[in-house]
Amino acid sequence: KILILDFGSQVTQLIARRVRDAGVFSEVHPYDVDDEFIRNYGAAGIILSGGPNSVTEGDTPRAPMAVFEAGVPVLGICYGMQTMAEQLGGKVENGHVREFGYAEVRARGHTALFKDINDFTTAEGHGMLKVWMSHGDKVNEMPAGFKLMASTDNCPIAGMADEERRFYAVQFHPEVTHTVQGEAIIGRFVHEICGCKSDWNMPDYISEAVESIRQQVGSDEVILGLSGGVDSSVAAALIHRAIGDQLTCVFVDHGLLRLDEGKMVMDMFSKNLGVKVIHVDATAQFMGHLAGVTDPEAKRKIIGREFVEVFQVESAKLKNAKWLAQGTIYPDVIESAGKGKKGSHTIKSHHNVGGLPDTLNLKLLEPLRELFKDEVRKLGVALGLPHSMVYRHPFPGPGLGVRILGEVKKEFADLLRRADAIFIEELRNTQTEPAPGSNEKAMSWYDATSQAFAVFLPVKSVGVMGDGRTYEYVVALRAVQTQDFMTAHWAHLPHSLLGKVSNRIINEVRGINRVVYDISGKPPATIEWE
Ligand code: XMP
Repeated sequence: KILILDFGSQVTQLIARRVRDAGVFSEVHPYDVDDEFIRNYGAAGIILSGGPNSVTEGDTPRAPMAVFEAGVPVLGICYGMQTMAEQLGGKVENGHVREFGYAEVRARGHTALFKDINDFTTAEGHGMLKVWMSHGDKVNEMPAGFKLMASTDNCPIAGMADEERRFYAVQFHPEVTHTVQGEAIIGRFVHEICGCKSDWNMPDYISEAVESIRQQVGSDEVILGLSGGVDSSVAAALIHRAIGDQLTCVFVDHGLLRLDEGKMVMDMFSKNLGVKVIHVDATAQFMGHLAGVTDPEAKRKIIGREFVEVFQVESAKLKNAKWLAQGTIYPDVIESAGKGKKGSHTIKSHHNVGGLPDTLNLKLLEPLRELFKDEVRKLGVALGLPHSMVYRHPFPGPGLGVRILGEVKKEFADLLRRADAIFIEELRNTQTEPAPGSNEKAMSWYDATSQAFAVFLPVKSVGVMGDGRTYEYVVALRAVQTQDFMTAHWAHLPHSLLGKVSNRIINEVRGINRVVYDISGKPPATIEWE
């Protein structure tokens, strides 16, 4: 296994992720673990992360000296390189030019780390890497025994290696995807330099996570807010695997869920998996507070507040609970670390069941904190959750509350649920048709879109049905394709599919006589309508 020492970089977890992608188990620990810890850990290699400090200041973090005495390979990244240089007798200077973002680095192929790895070769025959840099300081004198491994114009010592002791260091960040060969470089370090085999996988992860949850909570009781979304569901399944009936889930139904969702969640967790779930139907309470409110932000705040309220009442009944479990995943951790930055605007105040306040006086249990969404999904499947639920589109915490424009009414929610279910059913049942000769595979339009749903518009328009005039509401369909949900394209759904969905909604959902398709990208529109 690989030990990663964290010096506080925003992207340390990405190192762990890359190492795991290479099939090798790794753990992140704070940089200030003691020498004893390092000696007993049994790492096949150690990686020192980046960090926000400057080694040119005396009281900033340093690696325990045991790291360099353990006799195992060490890879320093960014700050990790600088502290390695300084601790082993080299020099670091306070940079005058900050380097941030894309850079091209000349890589010296004589080292085991870079041999035969490069993105392109210059006219002079130098192997070059396309990398991501983010640093102010730089190493300006290598410690004794080190050779130059990489350089840029701004940073003549962008990589160094002492191959005898198997110490390697790079100024750029191989852990981010912008560094094109990052995966290859980290793979090279863990497989060839540290000698680790690719044998780490999800079942191993489950047994380790189960063990660590048991150690953390002992015989205490744990509560978890289950929303039916992927993250809280996978967290519940994992924690239940670890501690069984010591876990109680609270499932708050705000009346703004998709069709049959409450039943589905109860069937899956309570019936199939045997998890203790308290199902709270708080529809009346939510609808009561939302009555007459039309402002989107006000609606979001009310739903968030009431959710916390209901959860607090329920959790107060569980007198022995000492832990609050949450399905926080790694991107949430990064996102909240970036929150509160000056100058950024609140576009929408997001709410989800992860956002419970610390007034509950419970200790936090967050077993998915180090995982990315796709890893959470794989974990869910490995835990036996159905594929169709683990690969569902995301659903916002405020639910249909942000998909019913203006005032939320139960009657509108009921119409919307039925229209939405028809849309989703047709997306699941219709296959894409890749162009002949392309190597894309046919898949359902549900899988080919990142998020799709119906929106209720509280305006009436005139229609004709049979011989009669109708005067009814409008439903808008929204389907987008996106990587990160920060930007998105509207999906080019086939007209035949749109036509069928429209027909079915108008025929089957009395109260809707017009269906429109949203063809706005994000930006300037957002994915949800409110
Ligand atoms: P927008 O509408 O901002 O949505 O383009 C981007 C993504 O975020 C989801 N979303 C939410 N998720 N709580 C959530 O958990 C919320 O309050 C919330 N608001 C929007 C939205 O569904 C889309 O996937």
